[in-house]
Amino acid sequence: MNSSDLTKLAGAFLGTVFVLMTISIASDAIFSEHHSDKEGFVIEAAADGDSGGKAAGEAEALASIGPMLAGANAEAGQGQFKKCAACHTAENGGANKVGPNLWNIVNRAMAGADGFNYSAAIKEFGAGKTWTYDELSHFLLAPKKYIKGTAMGFAGVKKDEDRADLIAYLRSLSDSPAPLPEASQEAAPAKTE
Ligand code: HEC
Repeated sequence: MNSSDLTKLAGAFLGTVFVLMTISIASDAIFSEHHSDKEGFVIEAAADGDSGGKAAGEAEALASIGPMLAGANAEAGQGQFKKCAACHTAENGGANKVGPNLWNIVNRAMAGADGFNYSAAIKEFGAGKTWTYDELSHFLLAPKKYIKGTAMGFAGVKKDEDRADLIAYLRSLSDSPAPLPEASQEAAPAKTE
């Protein structure tokens, strides 16, 4: 009697264990499927960002700022330049501070301000290049991503509209501002810089 009770108890116990294990295995299978799905997704996204692939992608995907410049607001850009003024002067003959003077920056040689001690990174990147509107746009979007190792400690201007305003202001820092991209296509070639 005792022993048969025990047998029943043991049987019930084993039955319960069996059911629990079955549920556990089944749910493991369900969850692990979900899990690996998710992980696969996350890793893909992370790999995109970490490998620098995203930076390159961003740079490629960045639309030319040219068409936005005609409608850009240089005054708003001047307001934004307050962020830059901690490190840069804007006037003709202005001093180099933490960063170089930015007079005539549009179409100026990269790393070309007299007497400024540029980082090796920007000298190498900029060798033989000038600051076109699009180069400025790429750089100002995310300086450290566009020129790895640059000494310019500035996060960047993310909004296209803001960058267009800012670049329109930079363009105005000149006695003869560079032609706007649309204008330059039609303009007589005689008087370009
Ligand atoms: C914290 C200081 C700092 C701030 C803020 C800053 N810059 Fe700079 N900037 C620098 C330094 C330093 C360099 C030189 C980079 C190098 O040597 O790698 C530089 C370089 C540049 C250059 C390249 C100049 C050349 O002669 O090739 C441009 C263009 C520029 N900055 C524009 C801006 C604009 C526009 C802003 C504001 C949106 C800004 N910077 C904000 C420090 C700064």
